[in-house]
Amino acid sequence: MKLPLVTRTIAELRAALNAERRGGRRIGLVPTMGYLHRGHMALVDRARDVSDTVVVSIFVNPTQFGPGEDLSTYPRDLHGDLALCARHGVAIVFAPDVAEMYPQPMETAVEVTSLSGILIGAQRPGHFRGVATVVAKLFNIVAPDVAVFGEKDYQQLATIRRMVRDLSFGIEILGVPTVRDADGLAASSRNVRLSAEDRRAAAVIPAALDRAGDAVARGERDPHAIEALVRAVIQAEPRADIRSVDVRDADDLSEIRSVERAVVLVTVRFGDVLLIDQREVSSPDAGMIRREVRP
Ligand code: PAF
Repeated sequence: MKLPLVTRTIAELRAALNAERRGGRRIGLVPTMGYLHRGHMALVDRARDVSDTVVVSIFVNPTQFGPGEDLSTYPRDLHGDLALCARHGVAIVFAPDVAEMYPQPMETAVEVTSLSGILIGAQRPGHFRGVATVVAKLFNIVAPDVAVFGEKDYQQLATIRRMVRDLSFGIEILGVPTVRDADGLAASSRNVRLSAEDRRAAAVIPAALDRAGDAVARGERDPHAIEALVRAVIQAEPRADIRSVDVRDADDLSEIRSVERAVVLVTVRFGDVLLIDQREVSSPDAGMIRREVRP
């Protein structure tokens, strides 16, 4: 098992990547905030399938956290992350500190305007601007051929796809289906902060999304009816504090009148932990097949 090369500065990383490129190797990037789990490793495995050299960035990006959000308590474990990266064949880890990424206050930002203020962006003002800006920086630093993101963070993936098109980044973007625990809860670095009771109760989220999928498969087309169904299922769990349930167009997250290809997006708090999840749903005639990874 070969340990990845750990780079802390942009210059070190670029020197390592130049050598890879001279060798004609295709570079795959998996941007992360660390505390890696099975969900991240599914992204790494996908990156390994489609590239020769996998780079994982580990950077808890302060600009995507608002005041009072969980930046200071966001879990970190570089040692554990490196062991997982080694096991999954990652060649290079880029783990800069904040001063390396933001040596001076940023005067420049990237914002996908139609997506940044809606849904999670309405609850977390500035979040998607922070995400788009740091991902644009990582794309410029690494210049990967392909970058891999999780479908769990659906609005983030839609934002990055749009940014890549708008700004003509010549980078292929791949989305990977959500990895789930046996009870269906989406793998997330935040799950470790759930109490045992909340962790058990959080299974209500995938259960509600399953119900939405079943309803659409049986012919329900009304987005409001699906939203009401999901809310009712989650509300039956007293520990769950629903922050949002939305049924939107699967591609651009715009509002819809009838479900053809849609996505159900939920955010639910358990204690002070905000969990997000999503499920693509499609009417039987829209012919969309979803694959998700369960143990
Ligand atoms: O999904 C994440 O972990 C982060 O939002 C990302 C894409 C690494 C940007 O900081």
